[in-house]
Amino acid sequence: MSNQLAIRGGPPVRNRRFTKWPIYDNRESEVLKNVLESGNWGGYPCPNDKAREFGARFAEEHDALYGVAVSNGTVSLELALKASGTGFGDEVIVPAYTWEGTAAAVLFTGAVPVFVDVDPDTYCLDINLIEGAITPRTKAIIPVHLGFRFADMDRLMAISERHGLFVLEDCAHAHGGKWKGKGAGSIGHAGSFSFQTSKLMTAGEGGIVITSDIDLADQIIRLANCGRPARRESKGRPALGHNYRMTEFQAAILNIQLERLEEQTLRRETNTRAMERSLGQINGISLLPRDERITRQASYHYVFKFHSEGFGGIHRNAFVAALKAEGIPCDGRFYEAVYLSSLFQFAAGEYPAWQKHDRNFDCPVAVRAGYEESVWLPHEIFLGDEEDALDVVTAIEKIRRNIVELQDFEDDRIRIQGMSRAERALLESKPPY
Ligand SMILES: Cc1ncc(COP(=O)(O)O)c(C=O)c1O
Repeated sequence: MSNQLAIRGGPPVRNRRFTKWPIYDNRESEVLKNVLESGNWGGYPCPNDKAREFGARFAEEHDALYGVAVSNGTVSLELALKASGTGFGDEVIVPAYTWEGTAAAVLFTGAVPVFVDVDPDTYCLDINLIEGAITPRTKAIIPVHLGFRFADMDRLMAISERHGLFVLEDCAHAHGGKWKGKGAGSIGHAGSFSFQTSKLMTAGEGGIVITSDIDLADQIIRLANCGRPARRESKGRPALGHNYRMTEFQAAILNIQLERLEEQTLRRETNTRAMERSLGQINGISLLPRDERITRQASYHYVFKFHSEGFGGIHRNAFVAALKAEGIPCDGRFYEAVYLSSLFQFAAGEYPAWQKHDRNFDCPVAVRAGYEESVWLPHEIFLGDEEDALDVVTAIEKIRRNIVELQDFEDDRIRIQGMSRAERALLESKPPY
């Protein structure tokens, strides 16, 4: 086989596509048809039948008592914060390395995000930095579990207890994950999940908050259902609410997707372990260390570290472009240091508390991860067999052997890799009108 890199015109390591996502079969078709024919399509009354069933089942799967299904995973963060009493002028500690929506949800409540750097071993919130960021205005902390890793929830909960802070786990990447046997989202006071298309369970869009606090769950229902109280005996405060209800179509699909979650999670776990055995041996690649307290992996995107010095000095973006050309879907600038990202640029004046707040942040680990170091592999790679996962290693080894072909090589694909996700999306999108 020619050794020339695919980005230079050689044959790629892989021509076959990985497992197609989302996965569905006639069970989804059947339940969708049933909802269609029932005429009971919407989210009202709230929760409606399928959404109630899904909320209860998803919560139980993650060791919480209540689940409130809503329209997406940004709204679920916003509602959980609002229901906790977080509002104008409060501060919420957010990791600097996450999806922009985690921080946007804080602003939507009137509070401000205070960005704290991530731990170089997990890319999740660095617990050592939290107490230095707490002020009398701090109300909540949002750990985001990503890269198959968790923030150190033992230390985080101890800090939250000491300071009386609300902990909302952003589990948009963590469906099915467990920390010391306890489901993601049930270790803090509430957990938020997304069911957007790429996520580990999906209805195209959707979100949920899980919690074991009935008053919090009641208030979230109220806020998602135009302000209507959840139950006659609800203790929650009257509040204006949007319509953020989940439809019966979404809930019906999610009830089926949930049935596949455990088997898919275990399959990804087996295949990532197989890949890690060889990946960790490659000079210039390092893995996020495993933590024994993660008793079941949350396996959305697998993240490893790229070190330019092991690859002849090329930039991470050139490596990612070359890896993609070899037939391995991947991304580098998947997340950025949120406070620097183009998606997080907006008129500060629209959020008065933010305008008044100190907006200078310095989070070098997040900056390095976002712009130089991290490589993200989507979960579909690990849904097939071990050989699929090992193709990642074969492609990386090929790039390393032929690294001279990438030195001083300029190519549009590399330039595009250097763009933010927002810029790339604009480049690829069709005009909206
Ligand atoms: C970490 C994180 N938080 C929140 C969200 C928001 O979810 P949604 O897209 O459903 O609004 C996402 C989704 O991309 C995410 O990855």
